[in-house]
Amino acid sequence: MSEYKRPLEGKVAIITGASSGIGEAIAHELSTAGCSLVLTARRTDRLNALCARLPGPAVPLGAEIDDPATANALLELAHQTYGRADILINNAGMLVSGTLDTIDIDGLVQMTRINYNAVVRTSYVFARAFKQQAAGSIINVSSVGAYLSHSSMGVYAGLKQAVEIFSTALRVELKGSGVRVGTIAPGTTDTEIFDRLRASGQQVRADQTPALQPADVASAVRYMLEQPAHANVARLLLVSSSESV
Ligand SMILES: NC(=O)c1ccc[n+]([C@@H]2O[C@H](COP(=O)([O-])OP(=O)(O)OC[C@H]3O[C@@H](n4cnc5c(N)ncnc54)[C@H](OP(=O)(O)O)[C@@H]3O)[C@@H](O)[C@H]2O)c1
Repeated sequence: MSEYKRPLEGKVAIITGASSGIGEAIAHELSTAGCSLVLTARRTDRLNALCARLPGPAVPLGAEIDDPATANALLELAHQTYGRADILINNAGMLVSGTLDTIDIDGLVQMTRINYNAVVRTSYVFARAFKQQAAGSIINVSSVGAYLSHSSMGVYAGLKQAVEIFSTALRVELKGSGVRVGTIAPGTTDTEIFDRLRASGQQVRADQTPALQPADVASAVRYMLEQPAHANVARLLLVSSSESV
């Protein structure tokens, strides 16, 4: 009888933005794959309910990802609870878009802190720890937006492109160290990220074209993580088959 391999069995994964959408789906996927999880977001009621539903061990950390203490707190919680950390998924994010005359400038600045600054801090904190143990994987969630130019989404697109370039530089710096860095750029995915746009009466692409489901993205993340240690899916673009990209 052939033995079914579960390469992620016993690994400890930290997932940011796990209270909904893509992050929640990644939590399900990695828990099913045998990972023990540390999940973070601000909505602790959602995190607690998710931890109770998952098939494997999971602990929540209610935190603002923009708080400079959060990255270290996540690493410490992983070590306290499971004695190790193997995988970081930087997924927390928000979307602010709009036209010159009406766009929420404070919202854009907040998005810069969440979608880029926090990714940099968390990546560095975990990359240092992973380098010391000569093993670990970091996946940063980018976006198809990184490759497109929409006048109303320039800041979001620019931040996701920055995530791509930063991640590439980190991957190159860590080459040969045992630490893998990759990005996944999902296309339009049906999640709550568009609620803010819907509330302000803006058109939402996820409502017009068949979109990806969060589980589609989660299964691609699992594929990236299940590669043998010498192989790194450095960049993955996953779009809906109806998307014009
Ligand atoms: N949906 C798409 O079409 C699409 C396409 C490409 C890329 N992405 C990217 O995918 C990632 C996940 O987005 P999603 O679509 O799954 O949206 P979502 O359902 O709105 O999830 C966003 C997650 O980020 C967390 N988050 C947001 N601001 C935070 C903050 N200040 N502190 C801590 N956590 C925060 C949210 O948790 P709390 O609100 O509980 O804090 C939530 O768990 C984002 O990076 C997004 O840019 C999405």
